Amino acid sequence: MIRKPIVTILGHVDHGKTKLLDSIRRTTVVDREAGAITQAIGASIVPIETIQRVCGSLLKKMNLNLTIPGLLFIDTPGHAAFANLRKRGGNLADIAVVVIDIREGFMPQTIEALEILKKYKTPFVVALNKIDLIDGWKMHEDKTLMEEFALQTPQVQSLFETRFYEIVGKLYELGFEGERFDRISDYTKQIGMIPISAKMGKGLAELLMVLAGLTQRYLNENLKYDVNNPVKGIVLEVKEEQGLGKTIDVIIYDGTLHVNDTIVIANIGDPIVTKVRALFEPQPLQEMRDKKSKFISAKQAIAATGVKISAPELDNVIAGMPIKVATAENLQDVKDEIQKEIDEVLIETDKDGIVIKADTLGSLEALIYLLKERKISIRKASLGEISKKDIAEAEANKEKDPLHAIILAFNAVISADAQHYAQKSTIKILTNNVIYRLLEEFDKWLEEEKKNIEKQKMRQVTLPCKIKLMPNYVFRQNNPAIVGTEVLAGVLRINTPLMKEKANNAEQEGKAITSVKSMKIDKDNVQEAGIGKQLAVAYDDVTVGRQIFEGDILYSAISEEEFRKLKEFKQHLKKEEIEILKEISLIMRKKNPLWGI
Ligand code: GTP
Ligand code: MG
Repeated sequence: MIRKPIVTILGHVDHGKTKLLDSIRRTTVVDREAGAITQAIGASIVPIETIQRVCGSLLKKMNLNLTIPGLLFIDTPGHAAFANLRKRGGNLADIAVVVIDIREGFMPQTIEALEILKKYKTPFVVALNKIDLIDGWKMHEDKTLMEEFALQTPQVQSLFETRFYEIVGKLYELGFEGERFDRISDYTKQIGMIPISAKMGKGLAELLMVLAGLTQRYLNENLKYDVNNPVKGIVLEVKEEQGLGKTIDVIIYDGTLHVNDTIVIANIGDPIVTKVRALFEPQPLQEMRDKKSKFISAKQAIAATGVKISAPELDNVIAGMPIKVATAENLQDVKDEIQKEIDEVLIETDKDGIVIKADTLGSLEALIYLLKERKISIRKASLGEISKKDIAEAEANKEKDPLHAIILAFNAVISADAQHYAQKSTIKILTNNVIYRLLEEFDKWLEEEKKNIEKQKMRQVTLPCKIKLMPNYVFRQNNPAIVGTEVLAGVLRINTPLMKEKANNAEQEGKAITSVKSMKIDKDNVQEAGIGKQLAVAYDDVTVGRQIFEGDILYSAISEEEFRKLKEFKQHLKKEEIEILKEISLIMRKKNPLWGI
């Protein structure tokens, strides 16, 4: 037997994923085919008769003989676009549709979706949606997509082509060769692109046909299936239902699930073991998300399908977790097996790296993958709320590498008892429910943090500075010497070591003879003084008239090592400071021509 291929719809927020499914459903209502489509759990089953009806003459034209029993579509909410794309040893989706708003083209989540598809080697097609919104596009209800295309003015066609080739170019950058579906010569090498209008129902027949054709031709082996196979599925959502308590919406991709079956669901810690009390299918053609929609109880659910399960002990189930049926004999084996699946995803090491959290197994995997792509190391990856322990782990990083002192949380919040601890903590906690925004914020934080680290390093080095001891302003000869001083260039700071422009003797050439003990402007102590400032400076270890004299020019005494560091951080220095650095190097090179080189 061949089961229905599972088709996942992915794409950027608002590009029309849900509308596409709505439209496929509505098409059949218009066809008066009540009951032809079951909108199951977050998923729509499109039976073969519907595909036949919608595609009509197109099937004959393309010489396609349908053998699959239908298609099971899974809609994904924008933020968790690929949260449920994986199951053990392969893809949950047999094939995917990447929806792109043709006017907007590639967006961050489009790229993310494609990266994930590439990683899992999931075949896919691209639906170029909202063609009806292209300037000047005219709809012709009774025409097929390509007939309608041919009826557009040359200007509109060229507008379409421009957008089309822009998207082809972007696909190419990611390693895919895209082509309009009717011009494809080899589907194993090229990605089919189908222009559609989800709103007007245009291009749906072509899309369904390409999907059916592709799955039949290339995925037949994957779809072979025995109703007696052990049941495997994945939790799509956990929901509270009136009168039922916690229920789970599950995609069953193998086997046949029955009422009273014992199910094992992976969890943090121990797997959850419980018994199916009731199974529900949504009423045909009802919108599941609509609170008024009713469920029909069912005795069994045959893969591939979506079904709502009511059972005790579902309180702690996490979306994205694998689910399996067990018997009294193999319960322990199934528990071990299922737990191994999630242990493979969770990461806990002593190594350096950041701490990440997510709400579902699938989104955690996606986050891990996207971070690894960016060569970011991970110390801990786990599910659920951010705990005290997570914060402590990130804190432990601070000493070793401040760039690791961060928690990235996708769709996860700080647990109530860790709130206070988090507020006191010096680590960064970033939370967002859009993966790409989370990564964007992380990039921004990294950049700022790197700058801060550089600045801190700069604080420790002696800054270039040039000063003049003002004649007739000696307030004290020594212990310490206090002299009116003008900052000619750069910044003079407390503790800055100073050398003379012209040393008193060869031995003192390029050496610090004093340092700044304290500084006063009027009556106020200051820590630093910039260019043009005149102030009273206390100098250690020198006597005016012996080592220093009125009118002397002094420079900060910069070590060779500091000089090199300053050159490295040149972008943080002002032009005049770079000038003084040069002057200092000239003084130093009188003695050592290779100084600082
Ligand atoms: P998320 O679930 O938030 O990621 O969005 P989505 O991709 O499911 O988008 P959705 O289907 O909700 O569509 C977003 C908006 O675009 C809605 O207002 C739709 O009516 C509109 N829309 C979708 N497809 C088309 C189309 O082909 N033409 C026009 N004109 N509008 C469309
Ligand atoms: Mg949607």
